[in-house]
Amino acid sequence: MVERTLSIIKPDAVARGLIGEILKRFEAAGLKLVAVKLLHLSPDQARAFYAVHRERPFFAGLTEYMSSGPILVSVLEGEGAISRNREIMGATDPAKAAAGTIRREWGKDVEKNAVHGSDAPETAAWEIAFFFKPDEIHREGGRQEARG
Ligand code: RTP
Ligand code: MG
Repeated sequence: MVERTLSIIKPDAVARGLIGEILKRFEAAGLKLVAVKLLHLSPDQARAFYAVHRERPFFAGLTEYMSSGPILVSVLEGEGAISRNREIMGATDPAKAAAGTIRREWGKDVEKNAVHGSDAPETAAWEIAFFFKPDEIHREGGRQEARG
């Protein structure tokens, strides 16, 4: 099934100049970029995005980190995009991530782990809507339809 998933290149990876390398991995895996934004979240925006984790011990550190610098937010589209993206990201903790995955290659630690990816269709829809309006996401044939 063709799916959409939300991807974030986190502040540590953007700061180290890894946007190009990471986007290359997505495209090589057959995931198409259908929307992209460079943003610097406020602490409140980071807390809203990660609200699901608000009871976790790492919540304060995570939201501080995610608002510490620019991030690249994108919508990836493709066959099984949600699980495909999580496969190429690797496990949350870079030390446990499989060889060749993004987190194994570029993650610094369990928090500064280079990338985020939605974990299910419901969370993907919510996360995409958090950052993008429907008309900011490219649809196949969308421009022709708009011209009528
Ligand atoms: P993500 O949501 O970023 O794609 O990562 P994930 O599903 O693999 O991990 P999740 O459990 O959803 O955790 C969200 C993010 O919180 C940070 N984290 N820190 N200090 C810690 O023990 C810890 N555990 C998680 C990571 O940045 C993780 O990606
Ligand atoms: Mg998660």
